[in-house]
Amino acid sequence: MQDISNIVILTGAGISAESGLATFRGPDGLWEGHRVEDVATPEAFARDPALVQAFYDARRARLAEVEPNAAHRALARLDAEWPGDLLIVTQNVDDLHERAGAKRVRHMHGELTSAWCLDCDARMRWDKDLCDHPNCPQCGVAGRLRPDIVWFGEMPYEMERIDRALMEADLFVSIGTSGAVYPAAGFVQTARYRGARALEMNLDPSLGSYHFHESRTGRAGELVPAWVEEMLSPLGSAG
Ligand code: APR
Repeated sequence: MQDISNIVILTGAGISAESGLATFRGPDGLWEGHRVEDVATPEAFARDPALVQAFYDARRARLAEVEPNAAHRALARLDAEWPGDLLIVTQNVDDLHERAGAKRVRHMHGELTSAWCLDCDARMRWDKDLCDHPNCPQCGVAGRLRPDIVWFGEMPYEMERIDRALMEADLFVSIGTSGAVYPAAGFVQTARYRGARALEMNLDPSLGSYHFHESRTGRAGELVPAWVEEMLSPLGSAG
């Protein structure tokens, strides 16, 4: 562990599964009863905005019913105690990393608790419904707010910042993601190209599992706290 200073952690839906949030690619291939293409594309929003707004309103409301789990809490502890650079890049649109106390978090696929005004382009914190055509608090125009979520076909957020961190990483850790969606699925190759070690923790090996030096299979709620303890305990005994 002595040669590790910079850590990049990628999280996906699997880290929030034990909190009770559905993953995307479950056994039935449906996501909360919908095909991803029907609710998570700009085309779907253009075709049926009411369906898409209702879908994300339900997911936003669901946040109030769930809590961060042991994996989120362990990463927040690592964030607070790790002396080197650390970046948690999440594909998740929930707020469970933040509610567990993590600070160095980037949401590359947007956030349920943010709204984006298509009229004035402002983004703002949002915890209410969007289906009832609210006015934008910035420009006052009604019915032009959309979920601030990166849909298929749209550009993920913060890519420059994330690429920089990957290129400087000594350790890349992927947690609870199937490795089905790019660019996140390619982060391991970017990090390894620059010499990082790569560790995966997932319920089952991801599609890109062979890119990792080590794959640990099991539940994030068990694997992640154990790994964080491994990372932090040598620091404690040294100090
Ligand atoms: N612990 C660890 N891993 C788990 C757990 C758990 N308790 N439960 C499920 N998993 C694993 C699954 O085995 C699966 O490999 O988490 C992974 C979740 O994969 P996906 O459902 O595909 O979610 P994710 O990889 O985050 O999806 C990426 O796809 O639709 C888009 O934008 C959306 O951000 C999302 C992206």
